[in-house]
Amino acid sequence: MTTHIIGQSVQRKEGREKVTGSAHYVDDLTFPHMLHGVTVRSSIARGRIRGIHFGEGIPWDEFTIVTAADIPGQNRVALIIDDQPCLADTIVNHPEEPILLLAHPDKYLLEKARRAVQIEIEPLPGVFTIEESLAKKEIIWGADNIFKSFLIEKGNVDAAWASADFVVEGEYETGAQEQLYIEPQGMIALASKAEGVTVWGSLQCPYYVHKALVQLFGLPKEKIRVVQTETGGGFGGKEEYPSMIACHAALLAWKSGERVKIIYDRAEDMAATTKRHPSRTRHRTAVNRDGKILAMEVDFAIDGGAYLTLSPVVLSRGTIHAAGPYNCPNVRIRSRAVATNAPPHGAFRGFGAPQSVFALERHLDRVAEAGGLAPDELRRRNFIHEGEKLAFGQIVREKVDMERLMQRAFELSDYSAKRARFKAENANHGIKKGIGFAAFFHGAGFTGSGEEYLASEAALEATPEGRIRVMAGSTEMGQGTNTVFAQIAAEALGLDCEQIDIVQPDTANVPNSGPTVASRTTMIVGGLVESAARQIRELLLTSSFLKPGYGAQSFADACGRYIEKFGPLKSFVKYEHPRDLHWDDEKYQGDAYGAYGWAVYVAEVSVDTRTAEIHVDDFVAVQEVGKVINPILAAGQVEGGVAQGIGLALYENVVWHEGRMVNGQMTNYIMPTSMDVPTIRAVFEEIPYGRGPAGAKGIGELPLDGTAPAIANAIAHATGADITRVPVTPEVLFEMLEQVHA
Ligand code: MTE
Ligand code: MOS
Repeated sequence: MTTHIIGQSVQRKEGREKVTGSAHYVDDLTFPHMLHGVTVRSSIARGRIRGIHFGEGIPWDEFTIVTAADIPGQNRVALIIDDQPCLADTIVNHPEEPILLLAHPDKYLLEKARRAVQIEIEPLPGVFTIEESLAKKEIIWGADNIFKSFLIEKGNVDAAWASADFVVEGEYETGAQEQLYIEPQGMIALASKAEGVTVWGSLQCPYYVHKALVQLFGLPKEKIRVVQTETGGGFGGKEEYPSMIACHAALLAWKSGERVKIIYDRAEDMAATTKRHPSRTRHRTAVNRDGKILAMEVDFAIDGGAYLTLSPVVLSRGTIHAAGPYNCPNVRIRSRAVATNAPPHGAFRGFGAPQSVFALERHLDRVAEAGGLAPDELRRRNFIHEGEKLAFGQIVREKVDMERLMQRAFELSDYSAKRARFKAENANHGIKKGIGFAAFFHGAGFTGSGEEYLASEAALEATPEGRIRVMAGSTEMGQGTNTVFAQIAAEALGLDCEQIDIVQPDTANVPNSGPTVASRTTMIVGGLVESAARQIRELLLTSSFLKPGYGAQSFADACGRYIEKFGPLKSFVKYEHPRDLHWDDEKYQGDAYGAYGWAVYVAEVSVDTRTAEIHVDDFVAVQEVGKVINPILAAGQVEGGVAQGIGLALYENVVWHEGRMVNGQMTNYIMPTSMDVPTIRAVFEEIPYGRGPAGAKGIGELPLDGTAPAIANAIAHATGADITRVPVTPEVLFEMLEQVHA
């Protein structure tokens, strides 16, 4: 057996196609007679549809026109609960809500036609902020505007305040954030009663789209087929919304009898698709003179937009991460996801955790200051250790050593020396320097019993030539699934990565491996791939076609002979939840995740106090994510996540007007460029995780959790400003600096 593939930065499987431009993204595909499709949306945030008028000068008879009345099955986009219509027919609940679809071969005429449709809507009052929603200014969803709430309790918070030496309160906010994948959303569909429905598109979760189409068309499962085309980034933004576009394209295809392509341009993508949930978090923390945190009370609220979509799960992850990697005896976390008349907010890398972790890690710096402790000293006195209990009752079984991660991050960034030096030097300068950090963790995989319910599957097949085909519903979207699966399979089989082929995710050909979300692919699905590979090897060894110590040629010969004698050489594995992991959905207590990534990130910034501009000068990211399978890809995950975190912290500011994003262009929605991102030093402490494939845990989302608070803490260090919200645009900082000087 070779053991040299894990831990090697082997080339990206699909890298050549991507860099040479031969990879096929959905918009690269064209078909004869193909039509283009567009969506006509609401013009206001909330109201009652009164009529649809088709304007002058458009040859309407050439167009395929679809409304809710054309939907063969249920007019809902299936997800957690079915509250979101595919096309609104009576009420609109947000300003980008789809009402009507048009298709035509000429996409320029189509755009003219879209503008010529007038939808008459009688306005109803809307709700646009978390506070308005909680105050029930209007009831816009259910009985009380609340999609979901959670309560996590440990110990007795109420009894703890009396024994505290000091109590620190704070309120923190994070804004919406657009995923800004390079490739906007798009789908092509072909649909008929006889043949069923097939869609090709840019997506993270083939089986989510599949489920939505089954319900929309009322067709049997085998009549629906979903194929993932090369995907130019998802970041959570292609977790649920592709179901909506697939439904739209398929309805137009169903009615026209032709293939229909819908591709959003950047403006439509930014306006209409999901973004990170805006959040508001309140903290109340009791601490004693020794810096031991006695109690934490957290009230976490997120803005879910107009429909429930994924908000309960985003809220759940945010809630579970809200008290961080600390051992606090008394904790109460209350959380709510509320409805507003904005387009539904959705998954974005970190899935609620970046919001609650920002609040916590910024708050703890303020707690330290109030108690006269250094921020690192406060953390050190409260970090969780192996054998201790997290806020939601999970006893940590991993060999976690947060202090060591912090030590490492401080050494690399020269934190302690700089912390002291900057303070002294800043007094005489208009440009002030600061250094700050955040300590955090991120659970890999679905929360609680989620993985058990998903019961993911993966399969492997050997060809007579000795090539291995990996069949999984997991998607490659830049994070490295194809390469990591190839490495895991190659390692388990004693082959080279070149002998492994990853089958394109297509619901007609691959089993349901669950959605490609929650940093679960390497750890959970990779684990299935590893088991499936071992099964094939065992089959060949026990049937004596293969002898231990084999090489590539004898492996190929063995496959050929096995298949000749017994037929297909395949293995199939289904996820089994570890028996010692227990989760109580009622109490929201127990083993929330099988494993966590643990990290300490340090940011160094300079702040121009005259222009209120902030620059991140240095960034050190130290993490423990188990065994690193591919160092370059892993570092890439950290660098990309930190870059998106810099955007969240400093630049990416969605400006809302009555539920609509009004700065939906990349000229006025500012994302970090290479000028704004320093060299990010990603460092891995490797402690192999017993249950992960080759010892790996998840890594994908972790980097987004700690970046914004590390930067905010650095800005506070530089300026003395009390940073309580992100993004810290110059306007925001200017206001905060005024308060310092007041
Ligand atoms: N990295 C790239 N390049 N592109 C992406 O779309 N998505 C992120 C993260 N890293 C993403 C990415 C998100 S939101 C998640 S949940 C994980 O990757 C999903 O992939 P994994 O399960 O392989 O970690
Ligand atoms: Mo990631 S936000 O779980 O797609």
